[in-house]
Amino acid sequence: MPADDLHQRLETANQQHLLKWWDELTQEEQTTFREQLESVDFDLLGRLLEKGSDTTGESLAQKAERAVPPKNLVRLVELEVNSDLASTAEEKGRELLASGKVGVVLVAGGQGTRLGFDQPKGMYPIGPVTDRTLFQIMFEQVLARSQKGGVKIPYLIMTSDATDAETREYLKSQNYFGLDEQDVLFFKQGTMPAVDDQAGKLLLAEKGLLSVTPDGHGGILGALAKANLFSELESRGIEYLYYHQVDNPTAIIADPVFLGLHVLRESEMSTKVIAKVNASEKTGVVVDIDGETQIIEYSDMPTAVAEKVDEAGSLLHWAGSTAIHVFDVPFLKRIAESADGLPFHTAHKKVPYLNEQGETVCPDEPNAYKFERFIFDALPMAKNALVMEADRTKEFNPVKNAEGNDSPATCKSALTRIATDWLTQAGAEVESGTTIEISPLFAVEPADLNGKVEPGMKYAGEVILK
Ligand code: UD1
Repeated sequence: MPADDLHQRLETANQQHLLKWWDELTQEEQTTFREQLESVDFDLLGRLLEKGSDTTGESLAQKAERAVPPKNLVRLVELEVNSDLASTAEEKGRELLASGKVGVVLVAGGQGTRLGFDQPKGMYPIGPVTDRTLFQIMFEQVLARSQKGGVKIPYLIMTSDATDAETREYLKSQNYFGLDEQDVLFFKQGTMPAVDDQAGKLLLAEKGLLSVTPDGHGGILGALAKANLFSELESRGIEYLYYHQVDNPTAIIADPVFLGLHVLRESEMSTKVIAKVNASEKTGVVVDIDGETQIIEYSDMPTAVAEKVDEAGSLLHWAGSTAIHVFDVPFLKRIAESADGLPFHTAHKKVPYLNEQGETVCPDEPNAYKFERFIFDALPMAKNALVMEADRTKEFNPVKNAEGNDSPATCKSALTRIATDWLTQAGAEVESGTTIEISPLFAVEPADLNGKVEPGMKYAGEVILK
């Protein structure tokens, strides 16, 4: 038994059960376990358990009743009709990219559980012709943007305990798909202890190891700070971070129009939305509540509020979150350094644990609370938070489920459709039923493909353009 302040601390927190097997541990195991226990903020956990569903006071479901559509909004049709706005924004964005002030950050800490894929999700093969992985499609876009801007764009990759080693190994083995190794900046998100739902006791995964879960993509702020990446970004002169998720290969990475609008509207955080297909689509919804723009996650949204319609009978809360954002780096740093930071969300889940007999139990029903932070909770803290609508057919084709909506099948056909549209716009002819893959997506123009695309060219069968 550790006869010191650790023992005392656990006793005060009413968590002394964690030391039940202390004497059985080797010295090395004791050292690691001590470090893990010392890093736990018991006061915070106590507050989270007291508050229940979230740490924001009033429940989100209650707040959602007062939600209205976001006001600081640029709709798709506005950009289509007002070509001046679109071209001014695009020019500003290109200027920004060429100035070397933009970095890109990918959150790749989640696992492909719903997809039934047991490797990091970014390694999922999705290219309809070549089986390019999600990572490859994304890296090739960042490379193309760097080359076009004539600058190095650092690509920050957030991993988790579950994805870190394999992600690093895979990307290294692929030579980072052409990016320089020093421009790929890995950092790992943190964890939070799981707490049993009966007595508020922390759970053990092993005799000398707490049961922990990832701290959510909001963990990005603490993880950036811990890896010294705020200083690294500052020394590289990076003022803006373009944020995207690992599950959507059709996100327009470092989209100049979005970057340009963000700067022209003096926003500290901007977010891209798409029109939801129906009230039950599983996306967060961007709304204004009491004058603050924020995202309500689908799991927190009461059905009656999600189903509200406006006078014309259209969905009132239509603005689905793509989880594509642009941040001012000093804004992120400010929140990372603030005392409270982002709030936590509590989820009731099935978490395996060690019982009093020292046996591992895999529960059939939820038995524990896990705590996560969401990066989009930064939105209400941002000055001039801006919402931009994107074309969902083009930019929102995520891979989430093994079958049905948002599956590999829907995503592959979207990649082919986008490539077909692109070739057609370039004046080429595409026979129907042709499977096409273009790399890099979006960042490419016909001239970049060295004669592979010219007006009048015909494409049939399987085509890969690189
Ligand atoms: C997410 C958003 C939802 C949005 C939708 C768009 C959340 C909570 N919800 O839903 O509002 O409309 O995407 O596709 O984000 N991740 C980490 N670490 C974590 C958890 C997640 O890096 O601890 C990463 C994943 O790797 C992935 C992304 O965050 O890139 C989204 O994660 P996921 O939990 O699958 O979110 P969705 O439920 O799909």
